[in-house]
Amino acid sequence: MSGINYSEKIPNNVNLSEDRTLQRALEQWQPNFINWWDDMGPEGSKDMDVYLRTAVSVDPQGWAQFGHVKMRDYRWGVFLNPGDQERKIHFGDHIGEKAWQDVPGEHRANLRRIIVTQGDTEPASVEQQRHLGLTAPSMYDLRNLFQINVEEGRHLWAMVYLLHKYFGKDGREEADALLQRNSGNEDNPRILQAFNEKTPDWLSFFMFTYFTDRDGKFQLCALAESAFDPLARTTKFMLTEEAHHMFVGESGVSRTIQRTVDVMNQLNTDDVAKLRAAGVIDLPTIQRYINFHFSVTIDLFGADQSSNAATFYSSGLKGRYEEGKRADDHVLKGNTYKILAVEEGKLIEKEVPMLNALNEVLRDDYITDSKGGIDRWNRVIEKAGISFKLTAPHKAFHRNIGSLSGSKITPDGRVVTSEEWMAKVGEWLPTNEDRAYVGSLMGRVVEPGKFANWIAPPVMGINRQAVDFDYVRFS
Ligand SMILES: [Fe+2]
Ligand SMILES: [Fe+2]
Repeated sequence: MSGINYSEKIPNNVNLSEDRTLQRALEQWQPNFINWWDDMGPEGSKDMDVYLRTAVSVDPQGWAQFGHVKMRDYRWGVFLNPGDQERKIHFGDHIGEKAWQDVPGEHRANLRRIIVTQGDTEPASVEQQRHLGLTAPSMYDLRNLFQINVEEGRHLWAMVYLLHKYFGKDGREEADALLQRNSGNEDNPRILQAFNEKTPDWLSFFMFTYFTDRDGKFQLCALAESAFDPLARTTKFMLTEEAHHMFVGESGVSRTIQRTVDVMNQLNTDDVAKLRAAGVIDLPTIQRYINFHFSVTIDLFGADQSSNAATFYSSGLKGRYEEGKRADDHVLKGNTYKILAVEEGKLIEKEVPMLNALNEVLRDDYITDSKGGIDRWNRVIEKAGISFKLTAPHKAFHRNIGSLSGSKITPDGRVVTSEEWMAKVGEWLPTNEDRAYVGSLMGRVVEPGKFANWIAPPVMGINRQAVDFDYVRFS
């Protein structure tokens, strides 16, 4: 079951050839996907051979195989983690019952919405990143960008499989619509606003893959608990791919910082103008990028109080992060949780029913996890002997969703007036000047082993290859 069949038109480990109707439906969708990739995928990449990893089995060990391929020929397909026929639902009102192998009628609309919303983010990020190849800081980085792009394409396949197999005609229509919406398109945008923003430069890309792909990880972890077993098994396999995306983000920011602190020490200065003249990204600008991406990403978890979140949990559609490792009753009726609110010009904590606050619970788990990388970035600065500390902004900073969205709150958690916000926002969020400066550094460097001036080389290559390996072959 865990071996992947590559002899078929659509690689899969779900015995697709035994389900003719589904196979035909997916084979009809496939050319539309390829057209979408040609139109909206990485710009100018058509003739490149890229050193990509492809899944060969879904076993935790050795599932990846590496080799140079054209991205268009990447073996996109349908891969699920092995199933357990005896699996039981382990949270919500149906706790202890058998997990569902099909979609219960009463949860159909909600499950479809969850799958479509997740599915929509996958091609959206490919669209957001489609110009970045033109300004890659190295061949190594170019390859990592492309690896992420093809895997997001496969994540789309994963969701489209569920739509086609379990949701009939509506599912097929939704699968088509996933290729019709486009990031930033005025008439037909992607569903979530963060996925309509541009990813204009490589610092943004690294921040996005560190912070926003991590949102993906937490959403997938919550869905991996689902009572709808095919969804749980699909998302579990997607998570193995997601880890690499966050690695690209974390190491990319880390290497940017490394280069900056090296130049700070060479020039013996922390003067922003001098560092910019030397072509590196000053630490205060990196902090502002963190503030932006952190705050925009935590909005993706949704309103701090949500009856949908309660319904999704109680009905077994979406669990908590690491649901199985928690020591409570997994039903949560009568439990409470603290959320933030502004009262009389001050941030206060408010106790609310936990079931309604499950978006906030997931957001808080995400915040704990994302702070780990910031600590590791600080170690790079410390090791260079420089006294500067990067921090995650306050959870209430720059929020556009939920009860905090109407308030102006500083990165250290002070409620301020609109006037103070306007006067100081340039210290807290990237300014047009910051973005223009970072943009001015973006030039294409693609000779093997060469790196743009603003970023340090990685410690090692991909799949134990040398750093100056030819990860991308141009023809
Ligand atoms: Fe993804
Ligand atoms: Fe991802």
